[in-house]
Amino acid sequence: MFENLYKSDIVIFGGHGDLSFRKLIPALYHLANDGYIDLNSRIILISRTKMNDDKNKALVKEKLKFFLNKDFCEEKYSKFENLINYCYINFTENDTFVNLKNILDNSLNEDRVFYLSTSSDFYGDICKLLTTHNLIKVSSRVVLEKPIGKDLKSSKLINNKVLEYFNEDKIYRIDHYLGKDTVQNLLALRFSNQMFVPLWDANNIDHIQITLSESVGVESRWEFYNEYGAMRDMVQNHLMQLVCLLAMERPYSLDANAVRDEKVKVLNSLRNIDEKDIANHTIRAQYTKGYIDGKEVSGYLEDGGNQSDTETFVSLKLFIDNFRWSNTPFYIRTGKRMANKNSEIVIQFKSVPHSIFDSYIMPNKLIISFSPDESITLNLMHKIPGLDEKMKLQEVNLELNPPRNVIRKNEAYERLLLDVIRANPTLFMRLDEVERAWKWTDNIINAWKNNMTPMQDYKAGSMGPSSIYAMMAKDGRNWHEC
Ligand code: BG6
Repeated sequence: MFENLYKSDIVIFGGHGDLSFRKLIPALYHLANDGYIDLNSRIILISRTKMNDDKNKALVKEKLKFFLNKDFCEEKYSKFENLINYCYINFTENDTFVNLKNILDNSLNEDRVFYLSTSSDFYGDICKLLTTHNLIKVSSRVVLEKPIGKDLKSSKLINNKVLEYFNEDKIYRIDHYLGKDTVQNLLALRFSNQMFVPLWDANNIDHIQITLSESVGVESRWEFYNEYGAMRDMVQNHLMQLVCLLAMERPYSLDANAVRDEKVKVLNSLRNIDEKDIANHTIRAQYTKGYIDGKEVSGYLEDGGNQSDTETFVSLKLFIDNFRWSNTPFYIRTGKRMANKNSEIVIQFKSVPHSIFDSYIMPNKLIISFSPDESITLNLMHKIPGLDEKMKLQEVNLELNPPRNVIRKNEAYERLLLDVIRANPTLFMRLDEVERAWKWTDNIINAWKNNMTPMQDYKAGSMGPSSIYAMMAKDGRNWHEC
């Protein structure tokens, strides 16, 4: 493990933000403790709240204890704490960047990563001021959190500004779904198992379903979320990435550009959902009050105390117009305050063309779950043992789960932060991916703005509005209930 020890200065803008405390610092704590980050690395938390080093460390410790819970270890923390530095910066004030310069100029580390976990409106200004103070070295990388902008136009403006200061190969646009082991496993499953290779197309697959449901509401993020909604928060990035990994052709290698080239081809082949299809192919909805785990929870409008036409749920039927997927629907749904937290992909194969049995033959399904638990299950038909004259069949589940020989499951951000530190961009989004995904989702959002599909509602604690079942039923299909 020690040959993989990386030494870097990791500067986090938004260092005291929710993402930083909830995901980034815990991920760095694990990377340091697991021996991936040299203990001479430094983590510099940038905040707009003035405080001294001791107060900062006390805050970090309190948050780490809370978010790591039983994974927190006092002894390990005392070593990790030496990596933590605090720096006050107001993102738009030139003079305050001197504080960061003082810290970085004193560093023994050659390598620098700037992680921008702020509103994307600040990305351009931050990069500009980093340049003004001569803080960007040739090898420095910048990480951009999603969403980058609110639509194609604003995303282009932000990306172009950042590109004035960093080359494309130094820009790491993060989508944390790509850091999940099960999501990466889609590549392994598809491209290292010959049995799936000839089956993975429109001739053999009837349709694909993707569900990303969450039981949480928008919590303290109402203001932010209300500007974005489920389409920009989940579909434009996480869901589009999953569609790409499921649908793409085999890349010639796992080289970053080889993989990204194939993903972009999928995005380029997405059939536009235009105004004539919007009503049949899209559903948007907002949660109203209901019950989750037996507890009454409020509706979206009550949560924010405001009127709003922001969707907290989206379901789409989409098509990829290429040779492999011709007319094979991908049904996707995602939403807040649904019955449970569940991330699941269902590949439903076609029915056998002719049956010689009396029993009903269920089409085979490959079910890939990655939250709350990770599992891969293949549903197959099987003879019920016994002496019946007529053979009876039943569906059995073949569990394809690898034995877990790891003690702790790595979090997506551990993998992605380590990849940034070791300068491997394969699991990050290239500019054209982000822009193509915006272009496609903008179309739908604009049609919604023109009121082509009314906002529906769904009860908190349900799996969305009833129209999602009707959309499937119309096609003679149904949702696999998680
Ligand atoms: C984030 C969204 O990108 O993903 C959140 O902004 C959402 O709204 C989260 O809750 C879901 O991530 P995960 O890993 O919990 O499925």
